[in-house]
Amino acid sequence: MRIGNTEIELSPPAAGTVEWIGGEDLLEQVLACWTVVTPQDRPLCPRLVGRPGMGKTTLAQAAAQRLGRPCWIVQCTADTRPEDLVVTPVLGTGGEIRYRASGLATAVLEGGVCILDEANRMPEKSWASLAPLLDHRRYLDSLVAGVRLEAHEGFRCCVTMNEDASTFEVPEYILSRIQPQIELRYPDPEEELQILQYHVDFAPESLLRMTADFLQESHRHRLDYSTRDGVHILRYAIRLHRVLGEDLEDAFHRAVAQVLGPDAEDFEKRKAALIDDRFTDFGELFGLEGLEEDDEEEEDAAG
Ligand SMILES: Nc1ncnc2c1ncn2[C@@H]1O[C@H](COP(=O)(O)OP(=O)(O)OP(=O)(O)O)[C@@H](O)[C@H]1O
Ligand SMILES: [Mg+2]
Repeated sequence: MRIGNTEIELSPPAAGTVEWIGGEDLLEQVLACWTVVTPQDRPLCPRLVGRPGMGKTTLAQAAAQRLGRPCWIVQCTADTRPEDLVVTPVLGTGGEIRYRASGLATAVLEGGVCILDEANRMPEKSWASLAPLLDHRRYLDSLVAGVRLEAHEGFRCCVTMNEDASTFEVPEYILSRIQPQIELRYPDPEEELQILQYHVDFAPESLLRMTADFLQESHRHRLDYSTRDGVHILRYAIRLHRVLGEDLEDAFHRAVAQVLGPDAEDFEKRKAALIDDRFTDFGELFGLEGLEEDDEEEEDAAG
C-alpha cells in the first residue's frame, strides 16, 4: 500500500477461526464497544481482563469473526518496541530498505480488528506510541518510515491483559483510553462441559465429566485452574489410557498431577499456597523482600 511516497507492505491476518462457547453476554459487550452510534462517534477499545487461559484471546477473536472483519493479533511482550507496533524497516533482496506494517498498522489501514494481546507486558514507551490511535485522533505515526497512518473508519481494537501484578505498570493516561474493562469469568458447569467437548471431541463422556467437575470445584475454591488446563488434562489422560492402558480414573488423577502439580487435587493446600504467594507479591511491591536480603547481607558482612 502506498502512503504518500512510501510503499508499505502489509501483514497477513490471523489464520483460522475460533468457536466461542457460552458467555454470549461477554461477546455482546465487546461488539457493543465496537459499535458506532452516530457518524461523529468513534468506537471504544475495551480491555479484556482475566486469569491466564480463561479465554480472553478467543473471545476477542470470536468478536472480530462475528463482526465479519479480518483480525490481526499482536503478541505484546516486554521487548515490544514502538516501531514493532507500527512499521519496521527490513532489508530487501536488492539491499534496499522496505517498510513492513505491523498487524496493528495493517488493521488500521485495512479497517480490520487488532487484538493487542497481553498488552500489559509492554513498556511505557510502546504504549505512548498508541495514545493518538486510542483517542479522537485515530492515527499512528511511524517515525521510521516518516508517515502518518490514519485509521480506516472500520478499524476496531481491543486489548487483553492478564490479571497479575504487571497490570499496574500500564500508565494511567493509557488506562483511560482502553475502556471499558470486560472481566472474564469461569464458565458454568454446562458451558465448561461443552468447551471441553468441543476441544477434545474424542474424549470419553466419563472423562469429560470428571474433568469438568474437577474444574468447577476448583473455581468454587477460587483456584486459578483454567479451561486450558482442563483441555491439557483431558488430552494427556486419554493418551495414558489409550497408549499405556491405564484405567481412566487413574489416568485422570495422574494427568491432573502432571499438568497442575502433585497436590493439585488438595484444594485447601493449594489455596493456602496461593495466599502465601500473594503475600510474597505484596511484600515485593513494598520492597519488603529487598529489606530481608539487605539484613542477610549485613549479617554476612558482620559474620
Ligand atoms: N468460552 C469458550 N469457548 C471456547 N473455547 C474456550 C472458551 N473459554 C476458553 N476456551 C479455550 O480455552 C483455551 C484458552 O483460551 P485463550 O487462549 O483464549 O485464553 P487467554 O485468557 O487468552 O489465556 P492467556 O492469558 O494465557 O493468553 C483455548 O483453547 C480456548 O479456545
Ligand atoms: Mg491470550
